[in-house]
Amino acid sequence: MPVLAIVVSSCSRSTAISSPDGTLCVAFRLADNGCPQYCVEQDGKAVISWSALGLKCAEQDLTQGFALKSTDTRFCQDAWETVWGEERLISDTHREMTVHLRHASGIEMDIVFRAFDDGFAFRYMFSEQEIKHLTILDEASEYRFTADHEAWSLPWRTEYYEGIWQKAPLSQKDTMCSPITIELNDGGYAFVHEASLRDYPAQNLYVQDGALRTYLTPWLDENAQILPDKAYENVPFPSPWRMVILARDLRQMVASRIMLNLNPPCRIEDTSWIKPMKFIGIWWGMHMKSMTWEQGPKHGATTKNMERYLRFAKEHNIDAVLAEGWNKGWEDWQHFSFTEPYSDWDMDYLSNLSQQLGVQIIGHNETGGNAADYESVLDEAFAYHQAHGIHAIKTGYVSPIIRTVDGLQLNKGQSGVRHYRRVVETAAKYHICIDNHEPVMPTGWQRTWPNLMSQEGVRGQEWNAWSQDGGNPCSHVTVLPFTRIMAGAVDFTPGVFAFENPVMPGTRVHSTLANQLGLFVCLYSPLQMACDLPENYMKHPEAFEFIERVPCDWERSLLVDGKIGEFCIFARQERDGEDWYIGGINNEQAREVSVPLDMLSPDKQYTAYIYHDTDDADWQTNPYGCVKEESAVTYSDTLHLLMASGGGFAIQIICSL
Ligand code: NOJ
Repeated sequence: MPVLAIVVSSCSRSTAISSPDGTLCVAFRLADNGCPQYCVEQDGKAVISWSALGLKCAEQDLTQGFALKSTDTRFCQDAWETVWGEERLISDTHREMTVHLRHASGIEMDIVFRAFDDGFAFRYMFSEQEIKHLTILDEASEYRFTADHEAWSLPWRTEYYEGIWQKAPLSQKDTMCSPITIELNDGGYAFVHEASLRDYPAQNLYVQDGALRTYLTPWLDENAQILPDKAYENVPFPSPWRMVILARDLRQMVASRIMLNLNPPCRIEDTSWIKPMKFIGIWWGMHMKSMTWEQGPKHGATTKNMERYLRFAKEHNIDAVLAEGWNKGWEDWQHFSFTEPYSDWDMDYLSNLSQQLGVQIIGHNETGGNAADYESVLDEAFAYHQAHGIHAIKTGYVSPIIRTVDGLQLNKGQSGVRHYRRVVETAAKYHICIDNHEPVMPTGWQRTWPNLMSQEGVRGQEWNAWSQDGGNPCSHVTVLPFTRIMAGAVDFTPGVFAFENPVMPGTRVHSTLANQLGLFVCLYSPLQMACDLPENYMKHPEAFEFIERVPCDWERSLLVDGKIGEFCIFARQERDGEDWYIGGINNEQAREVSVPLDMLSPDKQYTAYIYHDTDDADWQTNPYGCVKEESAVTYSDTLHLLMASGGGFAIQIICSL
């Protein structure tokens, strides 16, 4: 195995594992001062040179002074079925190496490495021992990439991760949120993130002395000032996994399932109540200021309005309707009740109607950032929703600093992470799925708790209603599948069909109609909202037909083509079906693209319904230029499509034979 040989020979005291196909190799050594270090090679080239590991704790500095006790390795080959997802079957093949270390102080620490063909991961583990608590002040984990590559990232204090991802050389970046996506100089890609974040602060990243380093989200004091403490851990405990996808191209990067594989298997025995759903909602009207959340003359969530939405959903094959502003508390956004509706909302009537129609109600629990109050009534709130046949709730934490049971804290600090986990685990007891807004960045919990279906953590469609800077640039959505969505499903809320905006002069959706359709395929979410008002959908019934038909649960997904920040084309096969859906979305630069249909079965016949930009479509001058074409296609065909500036396309391919 030549790759392994190179690494091993570069350090006489190193120990190493190679990935199952031998192309990726992770080596470990202790430096002379007993500092744990690792390095990584792929295809015979060094990608990450010797990088430090360890934890600086208040009780002991665990970044040096270690001796190696022993090493174990094992091979794992597994496959598992997702409850929902971009793919039904996921395989997990890797080699694992655990180095058992003993610190001069007597503390024992293991570092577990995994080598996959498309990346690697490591974590720290503390087993039962004399020391019972550790206060982590800093994590020393580094990623010493061998060149100053360009990376896509968000600054670490970006509120709710709602920012425009920026690309720049790593050396020019300030502290960044995890994840980041790196364009390697040789044409490959690296995705740096974490997995299985359970009782630990979220990772952030910064560059110092040529190394990408970990900055854990800190605890705050009673005045909301940053403390030196990052995590309080009871021994035994494992840290989250630190993971890096190393892909030769974007197609391989988006197909990587390392993050999910690093999370424990599903903890919910009966998952039959967890259903991917497409939904509409009483929502966009509030962001466009034609409705209000609070009760009054323009109140959105009234019984009458909700009945209209439920009936519209029934008629148009939409599974559910979200209602925001149904509950008391919107006057001050502080004292929300999760069990008391406003007087113009008849919960019993609407709950009966929803069951009669077979259209679900999606509940809404905005907390205004008061996580502690929410936690104190969680069981009551979920029992109330369950009793009214509600199986999904959109939660929200609008406040840059949230109030947890530990006082004012950053939502991605350890206390916030614990809160979100309690919500998801409690919701499971009541058969409730969660669509979490203002979340901590996803790290793959959805494998263990598949009732955590979607999350925001993105500068979503709502910014196109009121953003002072005019709305999301066209390129924004072409970055998300390669950055934010690599961390998990996103509640972006596609599907605006009326582009003029009376709320903020100069603000509008930077998109054509066909682009909005393409988003349903490109921006993955098992709870996928069609966000516009029914009356706007009825102005373009032909285009709306695609929304009625597109599923949100998939057998298989693949990137057909794309470039970060320029365009992307995804193809997805419907779960339990033979039909395919292909979506394309574009930045400001109009372009022609080719879509080979070689994902189709060679022995089957298909009909394609193609919704695309007209030749004169343009997000600024003609956003509604969209046509539908029908054509018989086979796997040997290639479609050639024009994507306008801010444009796109959406294709339904029905298997006929
Ligand atoms: C922010 C969320 O992103 C948005 O979807 C919601 O309407 C408001 N908070 C109110 O909860």
